[in-house]
Amino acid sequence: MSDTVTILVDDKPYQVEAGVNLLQACLSLQMDLPYFCWHPAMGAVGSCRLCAMTQYQDAEDTRGRLIMACMTPVREGMIVSLSGEKPSIFRATTIEAIMTNHPHDCPVCEEGGDCHLQDMTLISGHIKRRYPGAKRTHLNQYLGPFLNHEMNRCISCYRCVRFYRDYCGGNDFNVFASRNNVFFGRAEPGVLENEFSGNLAEVCPTGVFTDKPFSQKFNRKWDLQSSPTVCTNCSVGCNTYTSERGGVVRKVANRYNPKVNAHFLCDRGRFGYEHVNHNDRLEQPWQRNNEQQKVDVLSVKQAEEQVTDWLSHGDCVAVGSSRSSIENNSALVKLAGKSNFYAGVSDEQMQQLSLLVNTYEQSELKRLSLTDIESCDAILMVGEDPTHTAPRLALSVRQMTRNAGIEKAGKLGVKHWQDEAVRNIAQDCRSPLHIVNTHASRLEDVAKQNIHLPPARQLALMREIETLLSDPDSQGISEQAITITNDLRQAKSPALVTGTNADQPELLGACLRIVLLLEQHNPQAGFYCASGQVNSMALGIFGQSGQGLGQLIKRLENKPPTTLIVMETDLYRHFSDELLDRVLDKIKHIIVLDQLMTRTVQTADLVLPVSSFAETQGCWLSAEGRLQQSFATMPAVKNRLSSFQWLQTLTGLHTHDQALHWCAKSFRALASISMFVNDTENDFVIARQPVRSTGRTAINAGIDVKEYPPAQDTVSPLEFSMEGVPAFRQKLLHKTNTPVTGVWSPKWNSGQGINRALDDDGHYGIRLFVQDPPDAPPKLLMDGDPAIPAGYLCIGPKHHIYADDELAVYSTSLQQLIPTPKVSLSAAMAQTLGVNSGDTIDLSAKHISLKLPCVIDKTMAEDVLLVPTPQFLQLGHFAKAQAATTDGERTS
Ligand code: FES
Repeated sequence: MSDTVTILVDDKPYQVEAGVNLLQACLSLQMDLPYFCWHPAMGAVGSCRLCAMTQYQDAEDTRGRLIMACMTPVREGMIVSLSGEKPSIFRATTIEAIMTNHPHDCPVCEEGGDCHLQDMTLISGHIKRRYPGAKRTHLNQYLGPFLNHEMNRCISCYRCVRFYRDYCGGNDFNVFASRNNVFFGRAEPGVLENEFSGNLAEVCPTGVFTDKPFSQKFNRKWDLQSSPTVCTNCSVGCNTYTSERGGVVRKVANRYNPKVNAHFLCDRGRFGYEHVNHNDRLEQPWQRNNEQQKVDVLSVKQAEEQVTDWLSHGDCVAVGSSRSSIENNSALVKLAGKSNFYAGVSDEQMQQLSLLVNTYEQSELKRLSLTDIESCDAILMVGEDPTHTAPRLALSVRQMTRNAGIEKAGKLGVKHWQDEAVRNIAQDCRSPLHIVNTHASRLEDVAKQNIHLPPARQLALMREIETLLSDPDSQGISEQAITITNDLRQAKSPALVTGTNADQPELLGACLRIVLLLEQHNPQAGFYCASGQVNSMALGIFGQSGQGLGQLIKRLENKPPTTLIVMETDLYRHFSDELLDRVLDKIKHIIVLDQLMTRTVQTADLVLPVSSFAETQGCWLSAEGRLQQSFATMPAVKNRLSSFQWLQTLTGLHTHDQALHWCAKSFRALASISMFVNDTENDFVIARQPVRSTGRTAINAGIDVKEYPPAQDTVSPLEFSMEGVPAFRQKLLHKTNTPVTGVWSPKWNSGQGINRALDDDGHYGIRLFVQDPPDAPPKLLMDGDPAIPAGYLCIGPKHHIYADDELAVYSTSLQQLIPTPKVSLSAAMAQTLGVNSGDTIDLSAKHISLKLPCVIDKTMAEDVLLVPTPQFLQLGHFAKAQAATTDGERTS
């Protein structure tokens, strides 16, 4: 437990955490002390002057002096007043001055009812506007598809610019001022470039920056139904609140988890939900009718009977999914058997996932959470560009680089939350970050070394580091390897960050060996591996090493099963049409379970529509091995069911809880999943909707004024209504594993209310792979050199935050920011191939050839061509490349 000190607030003694500021201490005591510019993640700068309190020298002091609570550290015996006349008048005057320019537009402002400014104005006692003058006005800017800009509402707290520039490293947003005209925006209107810009909608305490997709189909906060969910757009497993109205998902907001995302989400996570509402959503089961060349829509019962009939005759091969829940994948494994279960990822991905699971199970390798990463003091990042593959991880790595500066300031007695002072003292003093990858990344501005190498030379560099860690006197080691090794060895908490997204099992093996060697010197050394999609790690438990889609194709070609059942995987993303059409033609029955009309769905004999993350309860295993549960926001649309429900007759797993018990019994690594069995017997159900006085039924009043009873949730302790325990009482009354369904506390209606209840004992997931200490060192540390076939060139993926995820690309706001697919190559490679930027290149691999325009990237490694992820999935690691020709003429 952290140290505490006793402070006296308004003559009452309180114990608070030592080292924090007085504002944070008062909020932790649930006191109503207003503030604007302080933020728990960004610290204090004392600019808004709203958190005024009076501090007294000692018990004899009757005058006291005004202080800003956010800038004042708590100390033992401190005597302060919050509700005294002097600080109360000061705060009321300050807010009145702030409000002179704020418009009277709450009724039309998207922030109304979810507004920190509204809450603070009332708490500060400013309830009557006296200012009669004209208000200052500004022009607004177009800032891209994610955010609206309404500058007239600005109160100049500077939170936005501090978040965008200081916290995220963005440089296309700033503050511009002339006298009392202070403008926060871009130099020119345009799309905000930073991948975390959407957080401005939550960071801004008023309605300057609001969620644009939400505004386009807007609801007041009290008309939304919300549930605690887990983001399904990458492997980090950020915690979110998903909100809906009328069966349409309207909004995704951050849900505080101090071990994972804390206060911030990336823009893919925040805006990548629209596939749930998409027109291509499957809502009914249907069967292909070849005779009449049409499809027959089936009832749920008919579809279940057809599945049972087909799967009861002949053999079956199943394809599991990294974007489907643990319950669904486990049902498929139970149905088909482990040897007939193929993971819906490449063979190399599957090799890496098995390698990770085995190493986590058999070693004491320290797996870091994002919070742990933020407290490291040296990081080696290899072969992964997390800004695009696991964005929230990149934000944590960026924060890590500040630690040397924070330590320097600490030596001068400056606390880590005194943000401006720390940054002034730190200047360019940074904890070392070494990046080894094929090309430049967003984090290069804070890195000590940026090393761009093709995959084979990255592996060679890792081997040098390995050699040096084993034998510090080794000779013939490169300067780069020596610098990295020295930094890692000298750090108190070094970390290695990598990922599986480049599909390089040998490189991952080398990274794991380095961390295990480092741990021998320093038990604090840790590891983080971004593992592809939301449930990729679970595939590492369910599947067999290397048994991915490449092996599936071989199996289908050599020994086609009677039935192929494909769950939430679009095979056409991974293979050419020609190859797949040929292979699938040999199979008698193809059953596809999916949410959307993919190419694979179009080839199916029987299609079973499955529910999205917003309609179903499910467990997800994040990259760090954190098992988390997500709850349905709304009842499943029409005849959509979870995959395990479609298969229940054959598997005997009829309920969510039965699926969890079966997983716990059948997979050692998942033994603790039974902790997520729901306590539906509890006397108290939990409300998904906030209490309000307006009528929700009004939305359909033009059709029918009857109020229908809400749908029943028989799976979880949550209710699809406002009846039940409200979110702010949930933790007190409900002894289940259910996280709270929303943030609210009396007087604190906006999401900032969470800052009064930051704690570490919530339901933040279960860490797996910690049951048994290892009795033997891990066996499966992969080695070897991938050989490039003669005449072929090495191909690597160039990930893109908005283009990579199979479902997130259905979001209209993300689609606008997806770049045109191009091949990136170095100037030397361009010369070898005889092309210039803009020319077209022919890339041909074993089963596919593609034509793509090229772009010369002077920063990237030689000897490698980078293609966007969707093209990389199809081409694989090697391809022949040449300048494209048209009618015998070179395009260049
Ligand atoms: Fe203390 Fe703004 S929160 S001055």
